[in-house]
Amino acid sequence: MTFPHRHLLGIEQLRPSEITTILDLAEDYVALNRGTKKHSDVLAGLTQINMFFENSTRTQASFELAGKRMGADVMNMAMQASSVKKGETLIDTALTLNAMHPDLLVVRHPHSGAVDLLAQKVNCAVLNAGDGRHEHPTQALLDALTIRRAKGRLHRLSIAICGDIAHSRVARSNIMLLGKMENRIRLIGPPTLMPSGIEEFGVEVFDDMNEGLKDVDVVMMLRLQKERMDGGFIPSEREYYHRFGLDAKKLAHAKPDAIVMHPGPMNRGVEIDGDIADDINRSVIQEQVEMGVAVRMAAMDLLARDLKGRA
Ligand code: NCD
Repeated sequence: MTFPHRHLLGIEQLRPSEITTILDLAEDYVALNRGTKKHSDVLAGLTQINMFFENSTRTQASFELAGKRMGADVMNMAMQASSVKKGETLIDTALTLNAMHPDLLVVRHPHSGAVDLLAQKVNCAVLNAGDGRHEHPTQALLDALTIRRAKGRLHRLSIAICGDIAHSRVARSNIMLLGKMENRIRLIGPPTLMPSGIEEFGVEVFDDMNEGLKDVDVVMMLRLQKERMDGGFIPSEREYYHRFGLDAKKLAHAKPDAIVMHPGPMNRGVEIDGDIADDINRSVIQEQVEMGVAVRMAAMDLLARDLKGRA
């Protein structure tokens, strides 16, 4: 298995064959994680530091668990978004940590591009756990693994990504990954939440759920990212739910075996009906969380091979 990257900063830098390499290796970790003995020593002796400058439940927990299951020394830095200033502060923090000789740095930051900048300043491998509206590569990879397992393939599928596209790094990384793997991508949402010029990415754009969901294989819902909104993007949450919230009636337009996804955290009754989210016959939301641990193990395993190669 070859993975010629020092960092995992985005899907943009990955070739389709490299995406497949990560997903194939993640399958081994799914099996390990389902067993009673969940340990490997792939990262033994290595130090992993998690720096989350923005709130996180799933991503931070799964990176921590992934590192621990592979034998790394894992440290979680408590970073408060409010205490962080752009520029000097971030770089100073990075240089301070760099002096402690970490091997893997997992970073989430509210500014797009901040993680790339940080990667230029340190000697270790950097994994982007989400930067602003830019990229969230491990989320797109775990979504891809979930789709591949549910549908038996990751190409020539019709996939709808719905809701707050404009503020979503999850949407951006998924559009790139699913496009590279040759799927048909439909974006559904109100024009105010659709980035301008998005059609250039080879996607189809809809502002009507019933039309956009017609015959799709996968329905990916997104959270309304209220913390990234500074004005009136939607008339009201009630109106938004009525037009864009996924309920049984709208889902009926998708293929009968279409799966429902959500990266979490969910706003039940805003972008998705709670009963749909909990329907084990349609929703793969819990599988997404499970695949998250496996994908992060695979990504860190591959980057560590490069570290060892250079040592
Ligand atoms: C996403 C994120 O933080 O970008 N969540 C996640 O990582 N599971 C999506 C979101 O916050 O809505």
